[in-house]
Amino acid sequence: MSDRIRVALIFGGQSSEHGISCLTAASVLKAIDRGRYDVVGVGITRSGRWTQVPLDVIAAYTIVDGHVPEVAEPRHDAVWMVGEQGCEVASRDGEKLVDINGVDVAFALLHGPFGEDGTIQGMFELMGIRYVGSGVAASAVGMDKHFMKVAFEAAGMPVWPYVAASRHRLRHHRADVVREIDERLTYPLFVKPARGGSSLGISRVADPSELDAAIDEAQRFDPKIVVEQGFVGARELEVAVLGDPAAPDGCAVSDVGEIRVQAAHGFYDFEAKYIDEAGAALDAPADIPAELSDRLKDLARQAFHAVDAEGLVRADFFVTDDGAFINEVNTMPGFTKISMYPALWQAAGMTYPELIGRLIDLALERPVGLR
Ligand SMILES: Nc1ncnc2c1ncn2[C@@H]1O[C@H](COP(=O)(O)OP(=O)(O)O)[C@@H](O)[C@H]1O
Ligand SMILES: [Mg+2]
Repeated sequence: MSDRIRVALIFGGQSSEHGISCLTAASVLKAIDRGRYDVVGVGITRSGRWTQVPLDVIAAYTIVDGHVPEVAEPRHDAVWMVGEQGCEVASRDGEKLVDINGVDVAFALLHGPFGEDGTIQGMFELMGIRYVGSGVAASAVGMDKHFMKVAFEAAGMPVWPYVAASRHRLRHHRADVVREIDERLTYPLFVKPARGGSSLGISRVADPSELDAAIDEAQRFDPKIVVEQGFVGARELEVAVLGDPAAPDGCAVSDVGEIRVQAAHGFYDFEAKYIDEAGAALDAPADIPAELSDRLKDLARQAFHAVDAEGLVRADFFVTDDGAFINEVNTMPGFTKISMYPALWQAAGMTYPELIGRLIDLALERPVGLR
């Protein structure tokens, strides 16, 4: 039997980060050790159809005139099967199955809802497919900016003031929500979709007169929202965490990285993240005192365990004169070669191909089922 490992790269997806996911797939495909791994590309269209995508198509995904790539509507839908042959993915051509590929491990390069939020992880669990990254609950908690804070608070971590509001509360008790915001938070505020990403749907609100419009905007992305007190002049610092089940504390942490956003963007918005090349500078590592670095690494470990993560997490912090506060964890952080998570490991001496290999190994070492 061949000792080559068959990896399914899954990308695209139904979230607003579809195009970013396609770019990530291109980046991973170019870096993955093809001497060790056989790769099959599985795209999910914006409408939710699955399709096997040829590797040369994936490798060519790029931003054109500010437009991100997308998975084209398929001629043949892809189907997953688990049976005597183990896990396979195939394409349906009328009554026939064609292009049948065995899969040892799935690597979902998906960001946002229906990918990073426990849903696809649930499918893998149910089918007994090994996969990279966090399990169902950790993925779901790590996606939800409300429950994530609840988990951080339960772990005794420093969380900045916020108010969460469900669709139900906003529909039936909107005045109470606004009153709670007035009582508990000081302006400026950040209004966010609870399960968003890539800064989409997030507004900085400087004045109460702008609050209603900001809530409506956030609800275009998620009926549930989170309103946070805004930091003024905070530094944005991030730590990469890599699962290490053999280590006593269960993970390894990188040095601290910093996002320095160009003033014109106001905050780290979608354009600054992906479109405007000069929009933000990533320092890996950041120029910060050793005590602060140690503190943030310690908090990053706590954050990893607070949500019960596996594999990989990027822990993001705001730091002011008042101290360090956890903003969020991402269980599938930006993962192109130049993204902060891989950049932090590269600064620590682990190449991008090595990092990809390590994540796949972690997934293969882990038993299927409850663990
Ligand atoms: N409470 C806050 N105070 C100041 N800036 C914030 C706050 N929350 C978010 N931001 C800005 O908005 C960006 C995106 O917010 P974040 O919560 O990280 O959402 P996403 O999941 O989309 O990355 C942050 O990187 C930061 O620049
Ligand atoms: Mg963020």
